[in-house]
Amino acid sequence: MKLLHVVGARPNFPKLAPVHRAARAIGLEQVIVHTGQHYDEAMSSGFFRDLGIPEPDVNLEVGSGSHAEQTARIIERFEPVLIAHRPDWLVVYGDVNSTMATTIVAAKLGIRVAHVEAGLRSNDRSMPEEINRLVTDRLADLLLTPSSDAEAVLLGEGEPTSEIVFVGNVMIDTLFASLPKASETGYAKERGANGGHIVVTLHRPSNVDDADRLRAVCRELVCLSSDRQVFFPAHPRTQQRLQALGIDLGNVKLSDPIAYFEMLDLVRTAHAVVTDSGGLQEETTALGVPCFTLRPNTERPITVLEGTNQLVLDVSTLAALVAKAKRSAPPRRPAGWDGKAGERVAKALADRPRPC
Ligand code: UD1
Repeated sequence: MKLLHVVGARPNFPKLAPVHRAARAIGLEQVIVHTGQHYDEAMSSGFFRDLGIPEPDVNLEVGSGSHAEQTARIIERFEPVLIAHRPDWLVVYGDVNSTMATTIVAAKLGIRVAHVEAGLRSNDRSMPEEINRLVTDRLADLLLTPSSDAEAVLLGEGEPTSEIVFVGNVMIDTLFASLPKASETGYAKERGANGGHIVVTLHRPSNVDDADRLRAVCRELVCLSSDRQVFFPAHPRTQQRLQALGIDLGNVKLSDPIAYFEMLDLVRTAHAVVTDSGGLQEETTALGVPCFTLRPNTERPITVLEGTNQLVLDVSTLAALVAKAKRSAPPRRPAGWDGKAGERVAKALADRPRPC
């Protein structure tokens, strides 16, 4: 059996790693296609090296652009690659443009698609990722769900039970496997993090593209930084916006994006995390670190219901909420967040050979 994995953006890479490892262990043939949606060292190749993922077999080098441009470039450049390889399964991850674009190509060529992280919904179509999730799940042939709530969503949308398999959270496989390496980096210590520190990440258009919103968030971060260390490794688009608006971040320790192990070391030792990332909502739940999500909704409600995540609806309350945060020990982990999801994905694929 041959799998063709597609990844393109930073959050895809920690999801691919455990699936690739597990599929190799059971002898499946594998091809990795990187669309090139993310291309900076810190956003892409560093992850491949750290996580032990082989170099991509193909890089489509699509780069940045509007959603239409990026999606169109991926579709155009991916089609001949998929025709050349004709895999038994196209395996796609998460909710980025690369996920949706390559799913469309495979569906039209009659190649089966397996979606890792199916069934997540924010019910907010102003988010580009929500459109990607809806299109990908509608077209995919195998819906591999990360948490118990996702199956109900898919059934509610009319997906047949036969296409849905609960596998758990592959991102958490990588988290568990990486904790020793994260502490070996000594990164938190090197940066002088004192355990009372806050880690911030922001990149969603809804937070960073609206100048008033970004200024309001930064006011709260500056307020927090008056009596706590605030580390803010910023996505390139966020750095561009902060610079363009000339926002003064006071004592906030702004930096370029940091490597996966370093980030994990900073997060696992933190008092709290402030974010709009999907992955961090999950990672903080698995680690028992309080997480404050700067969004009105989440496609990962299980992190609120069973984990440490809290949605911050009114930005002006952020500093006060973070100040009151308490770590939960030991953390409560949702079912299937056990470090074995990659193996379940590989088995689900191997159990379903291409029909003759
Ligand atoms: C993408 C995903 C988002 C995911 C995020 C993680 C979509 C719709 N969005 O958003 O779901 O949470 O990745 O980071 O797929 N840039 C660089 N270097 C890079 C990559 C991007 O400088 O390596 C800059 C470019 O100016 C680019 C901008 O960041 O225009 C946005 O990149 P893009 O890939 O369009 O979306 P993300 O915001 O990264």
